[in-house]
Amino acid sequence: MKRFVDLGELEREEVLSLLELARHLERQPEPHALAGRVLGLLFFNPSLRTLASCQVAMARLGGTSFVITPGQGSWQLEWRDGVVMDGAAAEHVREGLPVLAGYCDALGVRLFAAGQDLAADLAERDFTRLAALIDKPLINLESAMNHPCQALADWKTLDDLGVPRGGRFVLGWAYHPRALPLAVPAAALHMAALRGMEVVVLRPEGFALPPALLQRARQAAARSGGAVRETADRHEALAGAHVLYVKEWGATAAYGDAAADAALRAPLREWCVREEWFAAAPQCRVMHCLPVRRNVAIDAAVLDGPRSVVQREAHNRLPAQMAVLHRLLRH
Ligand code: CP
Repeated sequence: MKRFVDLGELEREEVLSLLELARHLERQPEPHALAGRVLGLLFFNPSLRTLASCQVAMARLGGTSFVITPGQGSWQLEWRDGVVMDGAAAEHVREGLPVLAGYCDALGVRLFAAGQDLAADLAERDFTRLAALIDKPLINLESAMNHPCQALADWKTLDDLGVPRGGRFVLGWAYHPRALPLAVPAAALHMAALRGMEVVVLRPEGFALPPALLQRARQAAARSGGAVRETADRHEALAGAHVLYVKEWGATAAYGDAAADAALRAPLREWCVREEWFAAAPQCRVMHCLPVRRNVAIDAAVLDGPRSVVQREAHNRLPAQMAVLHRLLRH
């Protein structure tokens, strides 16, 4: 494996092999596997789980890591091409990234969607530009439309819980005060489709995912024996569901227009997951990648109750990260 930027770049068998390695390293860590190896971490956006799990994974495997958060103790970095750099950024990624890549054996980068131009974000324009500057194994730590490390950990969580391959996976929209990026819903959608699940995207009118994401997931589902559909009917979607994967995201039709998005979401505050939603799905588990706003996206009683597996999901970020690093860096 040369890089880990998109679960969709891997064959299903390669993902299964990574998951097997994650389970192995969880049971039986290899404390010297990556001795002398260095992981560089470049975070343009905040993180708790991704940052900590990457650093701990390297430490547990005998390697080390460094973290750069541009503008916080290091130079602010410009990543747009063609700009006159007379603002806050003192350095361009065209200089800075090859320098960082030269210091390490692999580089992980988090760069969220710019959130202005849907086509550019769907094409991963900014992340692709960064990737072209790096000649080392690259890990996507969340880009405009992807979060493969989260997706791998989520697949492991489904396996750990014994959720059947063909089980119903409901990717459910939840309220948030503002539009959030599409990276996690896109990654979760693709992961569940590739796993071969019956995927139902449950969202209010106006919050359908971009057709390109659904099309890509349907292609993955077709290869894996799964299916993908959308609905706004909560009762129908959740009846008999195995998993409700909760996520907040912005309206595609109002992409880059905060006021238009706010008008669309204003009447949707009741899209906060509550226990009574599960009357027809008593065994349904609730997943969320975190961070989550209590009593906004998910009721506190659900988060604290037995159907919530958010802590297990977060725990699985570590063995998943270890597996990715082991596969990229172990000779
Ligand atoms: N789920 C996730 O990526 O968490 P962080 O944003 O805290 O890294």
